[in-house]
Amino acid sequence: MGLFSNWEKSNLKCSIFGLDLRNAIFLASGTFEYGLLYKNVTNKVGAIVTKGITASGRAGNPPPRVFETACGLINSVGLENPGVKVFCKDILPEMRKLKTRIFVNVAGFSVGDFVEIVGEVGDQVDGFELNVSCPNVEGGGVAFGRDPEICSRVVTEVRKTTTLPVIVKLTANFCDPLLVGRACVEAGADGISLVNTLHAMAFDIKKKKVMITGGLSGPAIKPFALYCVHHLRDLGVPIIGVGGIISGSDAYEFLLAGASAVEIGSATLRDPYAPLRIIQELEEFTG
Ligand SMILES: Cc1cc2nc3c(=O)[nH]c(=O)nc-3n(C[C@H](O)[C@H](O)[C@H](O)COP(=O)(O)O)c2cc1C
Repeated sequence: MGLFSNWEKSNLKCSIFGLDLRNAIFLASGTFEYGLLYKNVTNKVGAIVTKGITASGRAGNPPPRVFETACGLINSVGLENPGVKVFCKDILPEMRKLKTRIFVNVAGFSVGDFVEIVGEVGDQVDGFELNVSCPNVEGGGVAFGRDPEICSRVVTEVRKTTTLPVIVKLTANFCDPLLVGRACVEAGADGISLVNTLHAMAFDIKKKKVMITGGLSGPAIKPFALYCVHHLRDLGVPIIGVGGIISGSDAYEFLLAGASAVEIGSATLRDPYAPLRIIQELEEFTG
């Protein structure tokens, strides 16, 4: 696995989970919505991962929801989404007109939630990314994702529900993602993506109180995310690297670390066209 195992060097085409992709650049969950606002970008990447979809709709967390740090961003969106039924009825039909692969980011608070959401979506998409790692929600989320046994149960049950590719998105918050990753692969996961955002907080020093707690993303976490990908590189399934990628050379570093593909997240909040630039820059390294 890893370095260029699945790449045609000359044109970035890639084959992963039995799917042919235009390239190995994915749009990460939560930072590009459902890919419908900038179709000219979505249609040029290998795949889009949707915002986390829960069983019931969620309004998300109260403000403040985002806070800029040195080289990063703390977010506390709290999985705002319309719920799986509305997603399937109103959003998915539009997404299916896109010319890219679609992965649904599944955000459950129990094993049953994961099974319900995957079952409801069915085979209308190309695969699933199980989000066992959101740091901004009570219950489920990150505490769930630290436990190899619970994650293994999630994958086992989801595996019975779908034959489509199942990626597990891991947390690296206060745990060893290798232990959880190994349990997920043994339970039948087709791939691993990491990292989700890292626990973070910021203070309002005038009011002497917490301004925000949430998940840190952006270039500040890239060296840590790279380390995590390298740490899991021998798991025997494709690893998708995510965390702080803003350039082709960042993406290339993830490939060198053992990733088979990468996801672009916060970079698109500053520049929605960043993925196009990153693809072009990456071609310089792999061409
Ligand atoms: C505003 C925002 C919302 C996010 N929402 C989700 C989500 O719904 N599901 C998920 O698995 N990850 C979510 N993430 C995490 C990203 O997909 C990604 O793992 C993380 O931001 C690190 O990558 P980056 O540094 O390139 O942003 C979100 C990140 C941000 C900044």
